[in-house]
Amino acid sequence: MSGKIMLTGDRPTGRLHIGHYVGSLKQRLELQDDPEFDKVFVMLADIQALTDNFDDPEKVRDSVFQCALDYLSVGIDPKKTTILIQSEIPELHELTMFFMNMVTVARVQRNPTVKNEIKLRGFEANVPVGFFTYPISQASDITGFNATTVPVGEDQEPMLEQCREIVRKFNATYGAELNEPEIYLPKNKSALRLPGTDGQAKMSKSLGNTIYLSDPEDVLQKKVMSMYTDPQHLKVSDPGHVEGNTVFTYLDVFCKDEDFQKFMPEYKNLDELKDHYRRGGLGDVKIKKFLFQVMNQFLTPIREKRAYYEARPELVVQVLEEGTAEARAEVQKVLQYCKHCMKIDYFEAWDEKYGRK
Ligand code: TRP
Repeated sequence: MSGKIMLTGDRPTGRLHIGHYVGSLKQRLELQDDPEFDKVFVMLADIQALTDNFDDPEKVRDSVFQCALDYLSVGIDPKKTTILIQSEIPELHELTMFFMNMVTVARVQRNPTVKNEIKLRGFEANVPVGFFTYPISQASDITGFNATTVPVGEDQEPMLEQCREIVRKFNATYGAELNEPEIYLPKNKSALRLPGTDGQAKMSKSLGNTIYLSDPEDVLQKKVMSMYTDPQHLKVSDPGHVEGNTVFTYLDVFCKDEDFQKFMPEYKNLDELKDHYRRGGLGDVKIKKFLFQVMNQFLTPIREKRAYYEARPELVVQVLEEGTAEARAEVQKVLQYCKHCMKIDYFEAWDEKYGRK
């Protein structure tokens, strides 16, 4: 097992939005072309989604399909990236059972991501066991592929740390040589997290401040035109603030110099636009219209690709089925190796020792 193996995943609990694009999808597009990686896997972690959505199976099932559509429409290429469904690979859950022996309850309780999510969901005294143990399951997601590299957001660092601990313990206990996976953070720190359209730090469905990759043009327009800007910028003539102004934060991420020539030739680049806004005399409607054009240009090809696959859902099913089968074969190899190290590969070991016709 040489070369680098990349694995990452999403909890399918809704369609993906431009925050996902900036924070992870964009990077996955680069990584799927990076020759450093022998294999690239993207997991639809439906079991993990069920840990806090077990009573809404319809949502999880629908989200698995919608996320797959989102992947394909942004250009995740199934020839380069293996897309798989977690629950269809039972070997991952076998591995979870083995890993559970190597983690204490206190250790999971200390995991900052789990702590935070328990609070966020108001679980407190009523944490489902499945939810509580999902870091161990996630460690299996990663180790089941013997992954070396896991591109995720910063909030996932405690998950990776816990996974590395498990791998170290497994290796030390059973004389195995599983890879200790490393987190791979986006290079551009400013792109780590895109704020919501209302200026809140996080884009989330429950806050209603998201722009989905699948939003049609009119919906996009409405969302951009009602975006949060600078609350002190009341009259066009007022000087305005660029920092903390969501329209400019988005422009920083999405607009290129060419866009000015195309949509707003009276400015050369974003610096000129920002200077004018700071001086005063530039209205919010104008910058929002520009941002709408920029975003619409970005989303148009994504929408078109989505429409192509929406009209051919059987192709999406095929991608998922083939990807999952290919992924399962990989995990089966790793699990067999783990069982061998744990001395529970009974029949293979006994056949070798005693022989059989
Ligand atoms: N917990 C991850 C998130 O919320 C999703 C996930 C599940 C994942 N399994 C994974 C990420 C394995 C990386 C590797 O974003």
